[in-house]
Amino acid sequence: MGFFSWTWVSIFLCFQLLLPRHSLSNCSFRSYELEEIPKYFLNQTQKCELSDWMVGIRRKLHENSELGFEEFETSRVIREKLDKLGIPYKYPPAVTGVLGFIGTGKPPFVALRADMDALPIQVLLNLFGRVVPSPVHVCLCEEMVEWEHKSRVTGKMHACGHDAHVAMLLGAARILQEHQNELQGTVVLVFQPGEEGYAGAKKMIEDGALENVEAIFGLHVSSGLPVGQVSTRAGPLLAGSGFFQAVIHGKGGHAANPHHSVDPILAASNVVITLQYIVSREGDPLDPQVVTVGKFQAGNAFNVIPDSVTIGGTFRAFVKSSLLQLKKRIQEVITTQAAVHRCTATVDFFDAEKAYPPTVNDENLHEFVNRVATDMLGPSNVKEAAPVTGAEDFAFYQEVVPGYFFFVGMKNETRGELGRSHNPNFVVNEDVLPYGAALHASLAVRFLLEKVVKARSQERVHHDEL
Ligand SMILES: *[C@@H]1O[C@H](CO)[C@@H](O)[C@H](O)[C@H]1NC(C)=O
Ligand SMILES: *[C@@H]1O[C@H](CO)[C@@H](O)[C@H](O)[C@H]1NC(C)=O
Ligand SMILES: *[C@@H]1O[C@H](CO)[C@@H](O)[C@H](O)[C@H]1NC(C)=O
Ligand SMILES: [Zn+2]
Ligand SMILES: [Zn+2]
Repeated sequence: MGFFSWTWVSIFLCFQLLLPRHSLSNCSFRSYELEEIPKYFLNQTQKCELSDWMVGIRRKLHENSELGFEEFETSRVIREKLDKLGIPYKYPPAVTGVLGFIGTGKPPFVALRADMDALPIQVLLNLFGRVVPSPVHVCLCEEMVEWEHKSRVTGKMHACGHDAHVAMLLGAARILQEHQNELQGTVVLVFQPGEEGYAGAKKMIEDGALENVEAIFGLHVSSGLPVGQVSTRAGPLLAGSGFFQAVIHGKGGHAANPHHSVDPILAASNVVITLQYIVSREGDPLDPQVVTVGKFQAGNAFNVIPDSVTIGGTFRAFVKSSLLQLKKRIQEVITTQAAVHRCTATVDFFDAEKAYPPTVNDENLHEFVNRVATDMLGPSNVKEAAPVTGAEDFAFYQEVVPGYFFFVGMKNETRGELGRSHNPNFVVNEDVLPYGAALHASLAVRFLLEKVVKARSQERVHHDEL
């Protein structure tokens, strides 16, 4: 710690000396020391004591999986850890959320976000009624711990890895707190409830999560990407999404006398087909969009025309205006196509303000994140991510401040396939935890450091010009 403090102080001196027209002859640490911070942090988070601490937290949260805005125990665990670390926090933003603060308490502020909620799902059992095992965490300097893998809460499971996200952010909090006196500003820890369809991010923002914040970073574990790699993308990374449900009303009757009825099944069938033309005929082929009808419910007899049909689905786009256009056209198509068949329709977009906007990564932060990730993992382990039609409520933060969201790999072929997220056979490779924690910590520290260095260089240039 002492050595490290001195290193950072020296980094500062170096950076001042490295400014144009200034000698760097007496700089005892070379300029690349700033670039070594990410590797240093990874080294710290991979140490057994810290990685086991994160694994313990993650397993505890996994066993007691909680749904959106019900993360009371999860929230309590987070606050207990922050208390132990001596990190001040605000509670409760957004019902169960927690906002921690590390550093000077003064600007600049940079935020790191972890989502907290699990999914309504059953843990997969194999043919013998046993839970499909997740990879074993091996740590040579710790004894092998006996643990439960599966969620103990029937029907609820961390099947998206948010338990790992919380553990990683707490891991980052721990190393950041160890260096709190060296931070050149304030790191805001954003523990956010209700990502899975509850727009928890929106509520966190309303409750002050982004107050004074200049940039926010978020990450997601990825089953398809090898451990030790990250994937990033400038601009739109994840789609924006909305949901709709419509009830199409006709007039029921005996199936043998269709002329005495108004058939809502035929009307709804035409609605479904016409909805498909929105993307294929109206959408720009270079602006990817999706309209899917996933629900079609009506009738329960062979010889009865029902009174009504309920359909429902989702729509996705990577540009907000396209998303709004899809919503407008879905409404029009359903009501007018129903009318063609003498039916009426009501369309519900649910809590429309909860529809997730596209997750769009800030271009300037792209360069920054790639630099930090490359310093930690090497250039060959920083990949370009393909856009994904899934949605993330991290997008709400990005509508307010520059934000960056990226993926952290978990795949390890020697341990076999990891289940896909949102599936009951989803597993987290806990080897990812040190990477996530180190990335969080490095992004925050480097963001603050580089900001101060830049500000000082501008001051100096200004001063020199006087
Ligand atoms: C470098 O440091 C030495 C002593 O530590 C000092 O004598 C010398 O003047 C310094 N040079 C510059 C360029 O600052
Ligand atoms: C990582 O830590 C070990 C000991 O804990 C040390 O020997 C090694 O030099 C460190 N590596 C880096 C890059 O800091
Ligand atoms: C992958 O798993 C094997 C077996 O558990 C382990 O030895 C290896 O270190 C892992 N690789 C990475 C990159 O974590
Ligand atoms: Zn999810
Ligand atoms: Zn998720």
